[in-house]
Amino acid sequence: MVSSDQPLYERIGRSYAKTRQEDPSVAKDIHACLDHSRSVLNVGAGTGNYEPHGRFVVAVEPSPEMLKQRQDRSRRVVRGVAEALPFPDAAFDAAMAVLTIHHWTDCLAGLRELRRVSLRQVVFFFEPLRVHEFWALEYFPESIDVPSEQNAPGEDVIRQALPVREIRPVLVPRDCVDGFGAAFWARPEAYLDPDVQAGMSWLALLPEDALKRGSERLADDLASGAWERRFGHLRRLDSYDAGYRIAIAD
Ligand SMILES: C[S@@+](CC[C@H](N)C(=O)[O-])C[C@H]1O[C@@H](n2cnc3c(N)ncnc32)[C@H](O)[C@@H]1O
Repeated sequence: MVSSDQPLYERIGRSYAKTRQEDPSVAKDIHACLDHSRSVLNVGAGTGNYEPHGRFVVAVEPSPEMLKQRQDRSRRVVRGVAEALPFPDAAFDAAMAVLTIHHWTDCLAGLRELRRVSLRQVVFFFEPLRVHEFWALEYFPESIDVPSEQNAPGEDVIRQALPVREIRPVLVPRDCVDGFGAAFWARPEAYLDPDVQAGMSWLALLPEDALKRGSERLADDLASGAWERRFGHLRRLDSYDAGYRIAIAD
């Protein structure tokens, strides 16, 4: 397990760009929600995935480790947190937050800041009750207790802070190239790869013994055919609803 005396992504984000790249299908879903917004604030921007091209984009991110891995140097980047955005009211047409709100210290305060500085908010999140039914949790049950999962805000929390107009499901393609939590729903072997494990907080934050135990059980079930018997039908699907959602508010 990683030690806890540094900001989270300084510790677990070091090889983020190895397994976490923008997936074209997910990007299409996110960009459609931005509609005609010309100026976009990306909060919890990480390495810059999903930032749209052809618009004025400003990125906000607290972790220098993540900022170091940005490929696109053309964007304005501000080191900061969602809970205290250094911008005036209504400064942007839209604010986006992608797979980040479950890491915020005060999610409601952060979402209210998004609302203050933008006319539209686009939040890509996972619905915890739904994602926690994902088959991989059977192998790594202790994941439910890591802070980013335990306190993960769902639609109900987002609605407390934002005037949500619509919630859209995001289907995860079978060949998803962004290695987030349930991206490998039809490629179970990937959950044994140390780089993949390091790139998703629900595994990166597990105690070492729990990670080892779960990996061994999964490897055994893959070798014996037990995984195939229970979940093999997933391999025949093109995409899967694992509980990822986009909230649009304006
Ligand atoms: C899973 S990464 C997502 C990064 C990027 N949005 C993406 O889709 O690849 C979560 C990011 O949230 C950032 N983060 C953590 N706490 C934050 C906060 N309070 N305000 C803004 N960002 C935060 C982390 O540093 C990390 O870069």
